[in-house]
Amino acid sequence: MRIGVLTSGGDCPGLNAVIRSVVHRAVVDHGDEVIGFRDGWKGLLECDYLKLDLDAVAGILARGGTILGSSRVQPSHLRDGVERARGHVAELGLDAVIPIGGEGTLKAARLMSDAGLPIVGVPKTIDNDIAVTDVTFGFDTAVGVATDALDRLKTTAESHQRVLVVEVMGRHTGWIALHSGMAAGAHAIVVPERPFDIDELARRVGERFEAGKRFAIVVAAEGAKPKAGTMAFDEGGKDIYGHERFAGIARQLSVELEHRLGKEARPVILGHVQRGGTPTAYDRVLATRFGWHAVEAVHRGEFGHMTALRGTDIAMVPLAEAVETLKTVPAQRYDEAETVL
Ligand code: F6P
Repeated sequence: MRIGVLTSGGDCPGLNAVIRSVVHRAVVDHGDEVIGFRDGWKGLLECDYLKLDLDAVAGILARGGTILGSSRVQPSHLRDGVERARGHVAELGLDAVIPIGGEGTLKAARLMSDAGLPIVGVPKTIDNDIAVTDVTFGFDTAVGVATDALDRLKTTAESHQRVLVVEVMGRHTGWIALHSGMAAGAHAIVVPERPFDIDELARRVGERFEAGKRFAIVVAAEGAKPKAGTMAFDEGGKDIYGHERFAGIARQLSVELEHRLGKEARPVILGHVQRGGTPTAYDRVLATRFGWHAVEAVHRGEFGHMTALRGTDIAMVPLAEAVETLKTVPAQRYDEAETVL
């Protein structure tokens, strides 16, 4: 068989482990040929690819990023995107394409599959928000990086009697905020799933100082929002303290908390450091298993599906199900976290 693989969307620790696993299983065990498209769907649309053999994937298991490169280009962004992709799949004699990606990539994968292309997807995202898989690789690494940063920030916050508002990734869901906040013993966590009340948050943080504590750590998912009309930033333009409205949640919160509590507050944006570097052992194992099972699905002709972790097993689930909704933080998980903060 001839299999094409690509990595698309924001990168994520563990992508190289999937690529390596696909090549090992396909080339060594099945005698297949594997090619890798450069920069995601863009490579397929432009027929830009390289041959992936054992030498090409040697030593990449522990490496972050993706040796194939990535982009946010989707075939549906171009009028003739799907047709071009179909043409190149035929031209290259591919029996299957394995796109590895998050929500946007899987939606594109579904579209291509509906158009008759032989697609087997592999989900990835540090955000852990793909609904049909218990976990996505990259999440464990990102939580580890964020937790380490929170541990470090605690000591400097205490030295200076400050509130540190730490922004972690998570545009639509608060999984990284929830897990890193719990792991590091943060004093408040705000997530997109539950709009926060700034007065309640300020009260909670203020109580810590009243009780004689010298610092506070607030973890905010980047997509966290205040309840409508409760923060100065809600009205648009500049806030009443003269700051731009779209300053990012950490910046907004630190301004609000400093103003309300009379304590120094600083924003810390962890940003892409959460996506970089070597994957944890957990992520390497999950990514490797996904790659192995994706090749098996190709050989069974189980197209239009993607790999998913269900309990401790890897299952194949229809792409159509995978892109229906995002996996958000359930109310109870948030309540559990709040109790122990
Ligand atoms: O979807 C993964 C993610 O890391 C989000 O948490 C974040 O909002 C986004 O990617 C950042 O994307 P970019 O690297 O394109 O700025």
